[in-house]
Amino acid sequence: MSCKEMTLFYSPASPFARKVIVLLHETRQLDNVELFDVQLSPVSPSGDVIARNPSGKIPALELANGDTLHDSRVILDYLDHQHGGEPLIPRDGAARWQRLTLASLADAILDAAILIRYETFLRPKELHWPTWLDAQQEKIERGLAELETQAASDRLQCFNIASIGIACALGYLDFRQPQLGWRARFACLASWYEDVSQRESMRSTQPPA
Ligand code: BEZ
Repeated sequence: MSCKEMTLFYSPASPFARKVIVLLHETRQLDNVELFDVQLSPVSPSGDVIARNPSGKIPALELANGDTLHDSRVILDYLDHQHGGEPLIPRDGAARWQRLTLASLADAILDAAILIRYETFLRPKELHWPTWLDAQQEKIERGLAELETQAASDRLQCFNIASIGIACALGYLDFRQPQLGWRARFACLASWYEDVSQRESMRSTQPPA
């Protein structure tokens, strides 16, 4: 499909795709990957993506041999095995499971925020379900409270797989829920995010204005 080794099917608004591009920046692999911007939603999927991932979801990473990897966790794991630097996903020990569990919490926050986005943006207003929306928002709030505790720990001191997931989740909340005001309730997390937002990998992957 392209002269580069791999092709990433993504959307600039997708926080799951952003995680992959941030990792590509951090591990200096961006030049190996063609970025293929696709327009899609759950109710209007992309034929280019479906041909490679039956679920129709992005990100999807097409490899040089024609295989396609998905979802973001699988892609991140694969790409973390393709560079010679310090792994962003610890290979073993307690650190591996702690970082991956934190990354999973960040994904859960994203899942809830994206469900809210779909419910409020795609679904007809008369079909909105406030109880369900509140339950998703509460999930986000509980997740942020746990991340506030973690932000003070050494688990987030280097920019690892957990940090990438959390930073992209917070970026998505700012993008789709600018009214949330999470910084006022979670000061340690806000200070941590302020620092990591200065990284080139985060600055150059901000969601569209
Ligand atoms: C969004 O526009 O919020 C969005 C786009 C792609 C994937 C997930 C969310």
